[in-house]
Formats: sequence, C-alpha cells, structure tokens
Amino acid sequence: MYSQLSLFEPDRADELCVAGAVVLRGLARSNEFAILSALQSITQAAPFRHMVTPGGYRMSVAMTNCGSFGWVTDHKGYRYDAKDPDSGQPWPPMPKIFSSLATAAADKAGFPGFKPDTCLINLYKPGAKLSLHQDKDELDFSAPIVSVSLGLQATFLFGGLRRSDFVHKVLLTHGDIVVWGGPARLAYHGIMPVKNGEHPLLGATRINLTFRKAKGETIV
Ligand code: SIN
Ligand code: FE2
Repeated sequence: MYSQLSLFEPDRADELCVAGAVVLRGLARSNEFAILSALQSITQAAPFRHMVTPGGYRMSVAMTNCGSFGWVTDHKGYRYDAKDPDSGQPWPPMPKIFSSLATAAADKAGFPGFKPDTCLINLYKPGAKLSLHQDKDELDFSAPIVSVSLGLQATFLFGGLRRSDFVHKVLLTHGDIVVWGGPARLAYHGIMPVKNGEHPLLGATRINLTFRKAKGETIV
C-alpha cells in the first residue's frame, strides 16, 4: 500500500511543498522481490562502477543503467549512450516490471503516459552522496523524472530552479517513489551522505532507480 502526499502541505515540514513534485510513500514495496531479482540480472550483465566526472572526480555513488540508453560521465562530459562503455555492448533492456512501475508512479503523480527509455541505477554505500544537481542531459523536459528508493534510508535534498534556492529535506525509505516534472522538472536535487545501517533485504546499501526519457521522440 502507498499513500500520496500532497506537496502543498505547509504544516508537513519534512515533506516536499513544491508544485510538480510528489512523494509516493512505499509504492514500490509490494514488488520489492521482483524488482531486486530483475536488478540482479541487470548488474550481472552491466556491473556497478564508479564513474569519473568531467572534472576528474571519482563519484562516490556506483552506477549502471538499463534501457535503450544509459547515463554516463567521463573526462569527455555527461551524456546518454546506447552502449555500456565498459563492455561495448548495449545496456541490458529495461524489465517490464521497471517500466510499468515508473509509468504507474508518474500517472499517480499527475503525469500520464510516461514511457521511460532509460533507468539510471545508483548504488550508495554508507558515506556516498550526490551533490545538488539538475537532471538536464535529457532532450525532453516535458517528461517527468521517477525515482525509486530501495534499501537504506537517505535524506533527499530538493531545491528550486536556482542552486541558491531553499532546499527541502525529505527522508526517503525503502519503497518510496519521488516523481518530479512540469514546473519542478529542472529543480536542483541531491542526496546527503548515506548513514550507516543495515537493511533487511539490502544490508548496508541504498539503491536508487531513476527513470527518465532521455531522447525526444523524433530522434529515437
Ligand atoms: C539522482 O538524482 O539521479 C538520484 C537521486 C537519488 O539517489 O535518490
Ligand atoms: Fe538527479
């Protein structure tokens, strides 16, 4: 079961109060075993790796992808690539259970008809973090971002369209899904360093699945 929290609840200081952003608490829980088993097949074909930013920093979050495209970073820059640069092979296809969950979550959040063509998979060990950034390497900003949290909890930072805007802090736990789009599509967001802990299914690990529409319809 899940509950949808309106983001216009000023009395809920711990929740997002941002137009275009919704937290769907626990929505991924009922499918947790199927999701984790699909994830295992993906990471066997395309293992997690620590990518390097264009500026030369090794990211603390380990990443992989599934779908028609994958998000990659190296000294040449950030981009979407149809092939895994480590193997030279296409990224593993997006399992149906992933795409249906993303479409259902987007629908509940008010973005009907979302069809992701990529899923970036982030793995956080305690201490790993993601600095404030915008998701802007996609060609189609009319599609939302759907972000599924699994395993250890983490504090999600959600700001505005400028880096200096106020940043909301939202604790995300296993099964929570955040959807942002429309006026919030280019909002700055990030993850605070993940705290030590032990999750019954994932141990000392947080996994995040981020579904996006990377390429505009016309060029696919
Ligand atoms: C991301 O911004 O790509 C991931 C956010 C998260 O891990 O929750
Ligand atoms: Fe992001």
